[in-house]
Amino acid sequence: MAVTHSVHGMWSTRLAFILAATGSAVGLGNIWRFPYTAGEYGGGAFVLVYLLCVAGIGIPIMMAEIMLGRRGRQSPINTMRMLAQQEGKSHLWSLLGWMGIIAGFLILSFYSVIAGWTMAYVFRAASGTFTGIDGAAADELFKGFVGDPERLLAWHTIFMVLAVLVVARGVASGLERAVRFLMPALFVLLIIMVIYAAQAGDFDAGLRYLFEPDFSKFKDHAGEAILSAMGQAFFSLSLGMGAIMIYGSYLHRESSIAQNTVIIAGLDTLVAILAGLAIFPIVFAHGLEPGSGPGLIFQTLPIAFGEMPFGSLFGALFFVLLVFAAWTSGISLLEPITAWLVENRSLSRVRASILSGVTVWLLGIACLLSLNVWSDVTMLSLIQAIPGLGALDFWSRLTFLDKGFLDFFDFVTANVMLPLGGLLIAVFAGWALSRSSSVDELDMGEGLGYRLWHFLIRYLAPLAVLLVFLKAVGALQWIGLE
Ligand code: PHE
Repeated sequence: MAVTHSVHGMWSTRLAFILAATGSAVGLGNIWRFPYTAGEYGGGAFVLVYLLCVAGIGIPIMMAEIMLGRRGRQSPINTMRMLAQQEGKSHLWSLLGWMGIIAGFLILSFYSVIAGWTMAYVFRAASGTFTGIDGAAADELFKGFVGDPERLLAWHTIFMVLAVLVVARGVASGLERAVRFLMPALFVLLIIMVIYAAQAGDFDAGLRYLFEPDFSKFKDHAGEAILSAMGQAFFSLSLGMGAIMIYGSYLHRESSIAQNTVIIAGLDTLVAILAGLAIFPIVFAHGLEPGSGPGLIFQTLPIAFGEMPFGSLFGALFFVLLVFAAWTSGISLLEPITAWLVENRSLSRVRASILSGVTVWLLGIACLLSLNVWSDVTMLSLIQAIPGLGALDFWSRLTFLDKGFLDFFDFVTANVMLPLGGLLIAVFAGWALSRSSSVDELDMGEGLGYRLWHFLIRYLAPLAVLLVFLKAVGALQWIGLE
């Protein structure tokens, strides 16, 4: 028999769930990460693969996550354990929950650092620092800031305190209230930015860059580019680590999972595209480099704010809203582990959120130091320092190890852990869970909609993730498929 309520509380309405899940999905991933990764892989071709991944892999997996969460009504670890037991499957499925917890820790540790950048930029915008700024000056400003560990630490700390504060207050009073007003406001501001970019930037070039797939640039490193597009889809939709699962566990039985998913994924994608439309026209109008990396929005948007009328006001507002978008995502990254600590360690919600917050905060320090003091420390150099094992030639061939903490956490969570988590969720929902259970929980009958989902979750989504992984490690070449 399905459980009807979670011990942690419930969303008051369907709208509250949609707002919260959209709040989780829409964040730095859309406005900071999407433009810079699209830029690194040449634009249109990346965007096309990204959109295909959202539709074919992301949407069915999001439905599965919400479905499993609502059926289990506990933290992802316990939900997976309980559902596996109910279906007579191995208790090892709870490991999926554990991987999600680890991914959540790693993501939030660097996410908080970047959210700190956006907070700092609120004050820079408001104080008129950007007025009349050009590309070189914006670049210098950004580099100076990122090179200062003390300031980064201060902002990182403030962001973590904010996240813990909301999670400590719980589902209904903390989370719901925050998202109700912030999400629509962010949307309006983003539209203003796009209108500005259309007038003042090179809008044509921006449009072409985003929507005219140029596979020639993509081809040189197609495996990596496709993996990154898929990783971006998982990251942006908050999939594969239990955030959406736990939000689903607070959702009432009557609400349609399929409809909610389409709305959430649609809004998330729309925000990413709008962000691209706001940023790339400015990039091209000022002869900047689209592939300049994680600093992209911090190096381009200040120029726009510096030129436009009331730029200090709009700039400050924009970064404030970005902080809120990051905040509502940060909360969802902290919620699964907090709920688990409450369930299994009998901690109060307040203590549980502080404990998880402090752990993330410590990891975040490693991330922010990797931008300056530890800029020479890469995962490769750490492994090579291990006596014996480190001397193996094998390591230096794994190019993704040649990254500092922040870049490595970003890479390994989005491109490996989340897709792997999503793959396992798909396998569980499509194969381990009985058909009658998924029919019951999705509650959409057994018509075309259900059958399409069932096909996608059983075959297309897992196989697609697997193929992208294989392609990325070059395995297709080894087995002669290419
Ligand atoms: N989806 C969030 C964003 O785009 C990040 C996130 C990833 C949140 C995974 C929760 C889980 O910013």
